[in-house]
Amino acid sequence: MSPSGSRSDNPIVLPPDTSSGALSVWQRLGDSLTLERQRQILQKVLAIAQKEGWAGAVRYCHSAAETLTFYRTAGLSLQRIALRYRNPKNALVDSLDRRAYAYYDTSRAQQSVVWVAGPHTLRYYRPIYIAMPQCLKCHGTRDDLDGPALAEIRRRYPGDKAKDFALGDLRGLWKVEFRLTASP
Ligand code: HEC
Repeated sequence: MSPSGSRSDNPIVLPPDTSSGALSVWQRLGDSLTLERQRQILQKVLAIAQKEGWAGAVRYCHSAAETLTFYRTAGLSLQRIALRYRNPKNALVDSLDRRAYAYYDTSRAQQSVVWVAGPHTLRYYRPIYIAMPQCLKCHGTRDDLDGPALAEIRRRYPGDKAKDFALGDLRGLWKVEFRLTASP
């Protein structure tokens, strides 16, 4: 974790309809990065589920996590986070993460936000809701979960907290951190 990202008690919250202004360019960049990744993952998961079943799709989610959902360069990091996570690497790690999660959990807003997290650091968050019934094959209640998928999840994620969700629930957030100057 970058040290500048961890202390942030007075984040600046963009109004949801901000269409201009200094931060909106970061908001658009965050949207395009995360929407593209989300589209890629979803397309693959559905295609693999059809061919190999939901357990095969779990194996894909597991291996794709390292390439599609944890991305890090000198100036940017991208990942998904959740309060009730499946992969412990996706836990909320600081007060900004918790604030963002609480914001979407109560507001149910759809639009992303960009907050100033430090002198040279911006944080982007976008909510991930359980928007389609297929999510419940791997994140639903006992009635919705796919049996073989559940077995595969138990094997790979012993401490899994990401079940028992319902349609419409907040499942997690996309989080992108932009570091605007190179580290010294
Ligand atoms: C085939 C099973 C499967 C399906 C279907 C599925 N997921 Fe997941 N999901 C997983 C697995 C496995 C992980 C853990 C990936 C990792 O290791 O980071 C995960 C992780 C996540 C995470 C990251 C936070 C965490 O819990 O670690 C989010 C957010 C998420 N899923 C949302 C969704 C949404 C929304 C849908 C429906 C569009 C969906 N998932 C459909 C298996 C699935």
